[in-house]
Amino acid sequence: MITQEQKSLVKATVPFLRENGVALTDHFYKRMFKHNPELKNVFNMGNQQNGKQQTALAMAVLAYADNIDNPAVLMPVVDGIGHKHVSLSIRPEHYLIVGEHLLAAIAEVVGSGATAKLLKAWEVAYFQLADLMSGHEASLYRDKIGQVGGWSGWRPFLVKSKIIESTEITSFYLYPADGGAVAEHKPGQYISVKVFLPKLNLFQPRQYSISTAPNGKYYRISVKKELSSDPNLNGMISNYFHDDISEGDLVDVSSPSGVFTLKDSDRPAVFISGGVGQTPLIAMMEQLINSGSMREKVWIHGSKTPEAHAFNKQVSHWTNQDQALKKYIFYNSADGQVTGDHYSGWVELKQLKKGINADADFYLCGPKPFIEKQYNDLLQLGVNASNIHYEEFGPQSLQLN
Ligand SMILES: Cc1cc2nc3c(=O)[nH]c(=O)nc-3n(C[C@H](O)[C@H](O)[C@H](O)COP(=O)(O)OP(=O)(O)OC[C@H]3O[C@@H](n4cnc5c(N)ncnc54)[C@H](O)[C@@H]3O)c2cc1C
Ligand code: HEM
Repeated sequence: MITQEQKSLVKATVPFLRENGVALTDHFYKRMFKHNPELKNVFNMGNQQNGKQQTALAMAVLAYADNIDNPAVLMPVVDGIGHKHVSLSIRPEHYLIVGEHLLAAIAEVVGSGATAKLLKAWEVAYFQLADLMSGHEASLYRDKIGQVGGWSGWRPFLVKSKIIESTEITSFYLYPADGGAVAEHKPGQYISVKVFLPKLNLFQPRQYSISTAPNGKYYRISVKKELSSDPNLNGMISNYFHDDISEGDLVDVSSPSGVFTLKDSDRPAVFISGGVGQTPLIAMMEQLINSGSMREKVWIHGSKTPEAHAFNKQVSHWTNQDQALKKYIFYNSADGQVTGDHYSGWVELKQLKKGINADADFYLCGPKPFIEKQYNDLLQLGVNASNIHYEEFGPQSLQLN
């Protein structure tokens, strides 16, 4: 049990962590990968290069140190991280490795200021957080195996079909290789996939939202090919899926996780997406359509061009079928194809002819600046922050609510 004195010592390091948090976690990751290189197969090495994961961990450690008197307030954050951890099969024994390197990194970065008392305080604090997190994750693993078709860890799946949806996005229909059922996901959830990359000589995991409502048989993921102006920096796994994965191949898949899900409500549901950010929202919309829900539904989507735009036919079909569904599409560049409910430019809610019903539930997904813009515009249009839900396709770095 952490003492009051130890809590004070940990809290006193918050200003230092604020200044040096990212440097500390950067140092920590370098140290951990040097001593435990096998963990390179567990982490997204792309996120290590762009620094996103270091920032996410630094922010989590800071939030913990800040709230050491009442860690319960962190439960929503612990839940979101826990979902990511269980989707990557992180187990309690991993916390020992992370603890060893995090505490050593604190000692190395703080230098002579790192007294034995301070380090002991951090050790007690870290293992208290580790117990809280791995305890919560144990309950998530239990929930998974308690479900029909559920499993914990990795399970081989067969790519039964590979369907091109647009110039950028291709869908993969994943069926369990063992012929069993799949656990029902909550629309909006993601799976992790793990593939071996000969280029790195490593296994690499990535998350992909399930882009259909639950059906008991398969998961569909829809992957955007991430290209860069320098071909050496093209996205590793998305290009591997597009170029190297064929029908009949096997990939390891973890069971559905994630806290960005359709809320239980009767209010209108407004889905706002940019590019491939539409995948979790397509699953939510399909669920509402399948359930025959009479809720007012609004689909607002932005795409670079009509050619890059995926699932347009599907959403148009739903729009024809369901009078309570309206769709608005924005194209950055459409060469004169902007007519009817199509708009030109970035998604701009203020341009919508019928305006926005502020008393609705809003679901946002897309690039970080897209989410920020739509979130702030919704607030200006009088929407209550608690009715806006969003997900980033990477370590969660926005703290808008
Ligand atoms: C919850 C969640 C759900 C997701 N759902 C989907 C989904 O439904 N569909 C989907 O397509 N994606 C989704 N993603 C994103 C997906 O997980 C991957 O992040 C994405 O496919 C890119 O992975 P990659 O391996 O191709 O790119 P990485 O190799 O990881 O690179 C990431 C990006 O950085 C660029 N890059 C790489 N190295 C450098 C460098 N040195 N300097 C500058 N830039 C660099 C790459 O070009 C690329 O754009 C989701 C992510 C999360 C967290
Ligand atoms: C107290 C300890 C820990 C804290 C505070 C912590 C915090 C975090 C945070 C904030 C994220 C980002 C979540 C998101 O936004 O999606 C994350 C992701 C992750 N964590 Fe942890 N974590 C801890 C322990 C561990 C352990 C023990 C491991 C395993 C060795 C681990 C492996 C990972 C991996 C692989 C990811 C995903 C990284 C990525 O996608 O780049 N974490 N963690």
